[in-house]
Amino acid sequence: MNVHEVIGEVLQKIRPTEEERAFVEGLMVELRGLAEETIESSGLDVKPYFVGSLAKDTYLAGDHDVDLFLAFPLETLLEELREKGLELGRAIAEKLNSYQLAYAEHPYVRANYKGVSIDLVPCYDVRDWRDVRTAVDRSILHTRWVNEHLNGRNNEVRLLKRFLKGINAYGSEIYIRGFSGYLAEILVIKYGSFLGVLKNADFMLRQKIIDPGGWLKGEPELAMKTIRREIGEKRPLIVLDPVDPRRNVAANLSWERYGVFYFRSMEFLESPSTGFFFPEPPEVGSYLAELRRKGSHLITLLFDKPDMIDDLLLPQLEKSARGVEKALERENFRPLGWDVGYVDGKAFVMLEVDRIERERATVKRGPEFFTRNGLNFYRKNERVWLEGKRLYAEKRIKENIVDVLVDLFERSQVSLGKGIAGLVKGADVLVDYVPKELEQRAYLFLSREKLNLKKEQ
Ligand code: UTP
Ligand code: MN
Repeated sequence: MNVHEVIGEVLQKIRPTEEERAFVEGLMVELRGLAEETIESSGLDVKPYFVGSLAKDTYLAGDHDVDLFLAFPLETLLEELREKGLELGRAIAEKLNSYQLAYAEHPYVRANYKGVSIDLVPCYDVRDWRDVRTAVDRSILHTRWVNEHLNGRNNEVRLLKRFLKGINAYGSEIYIRGFSGYLAEILVIKYGSFLGVLKNADFMLRQKIIDPGGWLKGEPELAMKTIRREIGEKRPLIVLDPVDPRRNVAANLSWERYGVFYFRSMEFLESPSTGFFFPEPPEVGSYLAELRRKGSHLITLLFDKPDMIDDLLLPQLEKSARGVEKALERENFRPLGWDVGYVDGKAFVMLEVDRIERERATVKRGPEFFTRNGLNFYRKNERVWLEGKRLYAEKRIKENIVDVLVDLFERSQVSLGKGIAGLVKGADVLVDYVPKELEQRAYLFLSREKLNLKKEQ
């Protein structure tokens, strides 16, 4: 298949059908009515806005979560916005099928209606970036900017998003650190098409700075400040947010995810196939076979997942993993890698190590040589010598990694994530074994499938 045939086939799958469009549009009309009605009876001065990929018509077929933002006047105090926003979200959600509370910078309501997840997020009704006060306030501006600049290239965005999903580089969430939907939209606007973006994978990395809003001219001081800050943070890409010169849209994009995009883009352009967009799920092998093959060992710290949002928990887990890695290194074990995460209410830190026992020489002070105990000591030990009339011997002791680790924890010799240090210290330490729920994670980690750049397409 040539590249256009591939793109044609992929588009068939990711472009919403007329039927789906009608459903989505009907849903939005219904939700808007419901929101306006609820706002009306609450007596609040709030405007509902649809944001996100639905409002921009860049959602993928079958993937249409609704973001409905409840915009409060700028005079509202933050406290009040939080409280009233949540109340209003609840009141709207009461009229839908079911809902729960979710947390980001401030709490919001996540409802479910007709099989669609609907986020009801309070924010400020900002006119421009000068008014922005909370992390979500820019979304309304983003939606407007994208709608003004996309010029019908909506399907190009869909292709790029699906491609990024296929290569596992989509999403700015902390556990992915990939491309956000908004970043994908900006790149399509900048380079004109899906293929245009891929062809520039190398160029944009070298150019480093993308300024679609013209801030370097319009607000040179602020723009330069952002650029200097982001260069200091060693980001792969600096995309000045066209609606806010203080923000790098690619701030959450990691070098690893950019690297995946870089290699995959090159490969796709060389030999295009639909497999890039819809890869076969990775074959999951046995982690035990992997351990045997490599001759290494797996240490797993397992504990109850604390009630924390990902943005807090994952960095803490990562910090703890690095702490354990360093501590084990100091104790003459050789860590070969680590992974962290959580599954079903259990959080874990996994480390691969070259061995789980170490031998260590210690010097043992014995009795005086001319006693009966002295004779015993002399017979029992291999390397024996005298210091004055006292016997000494060198002893080699075997130590298990679990004992060493527990001892290190007890003596607080491991640098751990602050909020979870107690949990890590009290964790179960498993050696060369993980419970069923973790088998797949263990395999993906040990086989490096999780990171492997050279996947078959
Ligand atoms: P979403 O993550 O839902 O993105 O964020 P999306 O554009 O709707 O794409 P998909 O199709 O659901 O994956 C909703 C809005 O939040 C802001 C953007 O304004 C986005 O449109 N946002 C989100 C960011 O600016 N940066 C992010 O990293 C995430
Ligand atoms: Mn969305």
